[in-house]
Amino acid sequence: MRSGLTGLPRERILPGQDPEGIRQAARLLLDGDAVAIPTETVYGLAANAFDASAVAGVFALKGRPTFDPLIVHVPDLAAAERLAVHFPPRARQLAEQFWPGPLTLVVEKAPSVPDIVTAGLPRVGLRVPAHPVALALLREAQVPLAAPSANPFGKTSPTSAQHVVQDFQGRVPVLDGGPCTHGIESTVVLVPEGDEPPVLLRPGAVSLDALQKVVGTVRLGDHEQTLRPPAPGMLARHYATDTPMHLDPQSVPAGRIGWLGLGHPSIPGRFAAVESLSEQGDLVEAAASLFSAMRRLDALGLDAIWAESVPDSGLGRAINDRLRRACARSQATS
Ligand code: TXA
Ligand code: MG
Repeated sequence: MRSGLTGLPRERILPGQDPEGIRQAARLLLDGDAVAIPTETVYGLAANAFDASAVAGVFALKGRPTFDPLIVHVPDLAAAERLAVHFPPRARQLAEQFWPGPLTLVVEKAPSVPDIVTAGLPRVGLRVPAHPVALALLREAQVPLAAPSANPFGKTSPTSAQHVVQDFQGRVPVLDGGPCTHGIESTVVLVPEGDEPPVLLRPGAVSLDALQKVVGTVRLGDHEQTLRPPAPGMLARHYATDTPMHLDPQSVPAGRIGWLGLGHPSIPGRFAAVESLSEQGDLVEAAASLFSAMRRLDALGLDAIWAESVPDSGLGRAINDRLRRACARSQATS
């Protein structure tokens, strides 16, 4: 059966609210298939983390270079501890405070985690997602799920099941859990075994301030150096729209231009389309709407998108990070 709206087979969208949808998704994953799954941050493209060929399938589907490790999703702290050789005390403190939630902890991996998951690195990124459908699926499947964001490599992350359907043209089944509440990816923190302070590898939905309240000093890391060669999550041009995007340009580019920012554009009437991330200037609301707003503007066939950076505090740091990467023209993504 085909759906009238998308022309895609309906059975590729599995209802996340329905136990049968969860069971079907779990069966597919245990058979070695990839399934797109909802989380509170963005949708993930999941595979059984213990099945190296299923994980290879995810890299292939996404067009992602195999030197960029995947986050492994687990249902609780105990399951995370089983995948780590050491779970340092500071990692536990952070887990107890922020899990389930948008924080990924990078710790020394157990031998049971296949090398392809960590791109050959000795450490694994672990996270307990705070989405009821993701948690129900993890409990049903009873295996950890390796999942990058469910977008083709270098493109804007998906914050709804429909985004995934559009991006993969029905090639991946999607477990529908509704729109993502955070809309921006998890914060990635490396916790060393010794006395060194934790290192922020990627700003995300948990702010640096919030981390520091729990564990004191957190160093700002050079993620590219950590991964060497660089992680595409951190490559200059990432999260890209097809429409060229400019961050805080000096002057308005020629043509039909879309505007993206907090509040309202300072030059009313100049823009062919306006996407306000939050009318009230609320950074939580702005993070949640960022990727959808980018996608809506991208769909309009504009000549360019003018993006305005937001205040660099709290979630603003992660929003500005994604805007800078989406706007960077210097580096190819494929
Ligand atoms: O919110 C999220 O984190 C989403 C949802 C689906 O969980 N996932 C996500 O995955 O954004 P991805 O693959 O798009 O980004 C993961 C980031 C990459 O920058 C990767 O380099 C880093 O996490 N990462 C994962 N494992 C790592 C490891 N072992 N060492 C260092 N960095 C790691
Ligand atoms: Mg990603």
